[in-house]
Amino acid sequence: MALWLVPFVGLALWSFCRFCCRAFFLRLRLPPSPPLVEVLKFLAGYDKREAHLTYTSWGQRCGQLFSFALPDRRVVVVNSEDAARALLDPHSRKTSERSSLAQGSTSVQVDDARDIQRKLINDEFNDSAVTTYRPMILRKVKQLVLNLLDSPEHYHEHGHTMASSVLMSALYGYDIAGPDDPLVRIMEQSAAQAQAMPGKTAGSSLMLSSLPFLQRLKHWFVQILSDDEEPVKSFDAMDAPLRFVKQRMEKGFYPRSLVSESLTKVDKNGYGDQIIKEAAASAFATATGTITAAYRTFLLAMTLSPESQKRAMSEIDAFMNSTDKLPTIEERESLPYVSAILRETLRWHPTRPLGTPQVATEDNVYGDILVPKGSTIIPNHWAMSRDTEVYPNPEHFQPERFLNSVGELSDANEDDSPLAFGWGERSCPGRHLAGEVLWTAIAMTLANFAVGQRSVVGFEPHWTKGPISSPLPFPCAIIPRADPDDIRQEMYSED
Ligand code: HEM
Repeated sequence: MALWLVPFVGLALWSFCRFCCRAFFLRLRLPPSPPLVEVLKFLAGYDKREAHLTYTSWGQRCGQLFSFALPDRRVVVVNSEDAARALLDPHSRKTSERSSLAQGSTSVQVDDARDIQRKLINDEFNDSAVTTYRPMILRKVKQLVLNLLDSPEHYHEHGHTMASSVLMSALYGYDIAGPDDPLVRIMEQSAAQAQAMPGKTAGSSLMLSSLPFLQRLKHWFVQILSDDEEPVKSFDAMDAPLRFVKQRMEKGFYPRSLVSESLTKVDKNGYGDQIIKEAAASAFATATGTITAAYRTFLLAMTLSPESQKRAMSEIDAFMNSTDKLPTIEERESLPYVSAILRETLRWHPTRPLGTPQVATEDNVYGDILVPKGSTIIPNHWAMSRDTEVYPNPEHFQPERFLNSVGELSDANEDDSPLAFGWGERSCPGRHLAGEVLWTAIAMTLANFAVGQRSVVGFEPHWTKGPISSPLPFPCAIIPRADPDDIRQEMYSED
């Protein structure tokens, strides 16, 4: 065994004994652990699989709730929706504190600021407030249709342009100039830098988060070895768009956005520019990648599952024939199969395979298992999406699983997909905005195009690695379903 592992094993054994004593006195059992050798390999970076896949295979052997030790804490992985609901439910309030393992935050003030930012996002994009943004979303999705019409071979970029242009409007009221908009470029570079993982593999980055002195060394090495171009100062990325909004507000004419609304509340609530610009920048960083990934996943699913596509198209065609209107989000209830496609897209390949780690602020009990106070809980959305008891045949794209026998959504009141957006107080505050954008993009894409495979030779989908999982480019053909000039005319029309 490598020498540097010796103190780690000692600390892990100590934390394990402490943990066992607590369970013994409460007459509960502790979450089982995978074999120590496998955990050590994972933490040392020898396990090259992505963390969600390693956790899924451990869960198959140990059960849906299992744990392993880090030098300073115990990590409990939740592989089932039922356990996630029980442990992370908003009503329980026993697991809301964000773990330092998630964002590297160490101070209480940082977490307070994050809670305010979360509230700002939630106030602006909750299920009723988000409806204000519907005309803007429709405009951006119509632009997506025009882009797909002009250069279908660039479908991969067009999904990304749609996501960043919706976000820049919703967050700053800023209309992007095109795919190469300079402001978007600065923000994306800065987001990429912020999200750069401090370790090469998931296991080693967990280890680094647990031993802060190693992390400091790591940053020092990265700075010395980095051949990146001049890093974007987060100052530019956050200040430039804020200045833009303020200037327009001074002139008195500006579209509604997260930043403009939050600025009008500054005096009443006593928080300042810093919190507002960080809220918008963090929403941009997390949301552009996830919406893009989900839209690309939808295109991939349509390519691989022509039957589902056919059924969605006949639902949309019947709707358009009877109403003489394009499918818009206001008509969501009349198009349950489109909604089922959205849910299945988010289930079939969760764009964020792992949720945000949360700290148990009290002892939690699930069945006869104790999750002790102080444990870091990681929801594994990937394993939940592969749970055959809830989703039989999980590798198959099957929107019907969300419909009842008469073709209606089986639970119309549920959010689009809790396993994609998370549970509890750390769940995604942008999920309603994401749901409206993706629903509109899916419906408008299928109303105007047939999505198919570009060549007769089969292909194996590949995915990006990291916190967001998105399909890499694949041979996708996007074919207009009507005369392109008619589609163009429709997209330029006002309603
Ligand atoms: C398809 C699109 C999206 C997906 C799949 C997604 C998914 C997620 C997930 C899984 C989390 C962690 C939740 C947890 O672990 O419980 C999260 C957090 C977050 N999301 Fe999203 N998201 C999406 C779009 C958005 C949008 C549009 C916004 C903002 C406008 C947004 C802002 C955030 C923020 C700020 C957090 C951190 C919340 C916190 O830590 O309290 N997301 N998202």
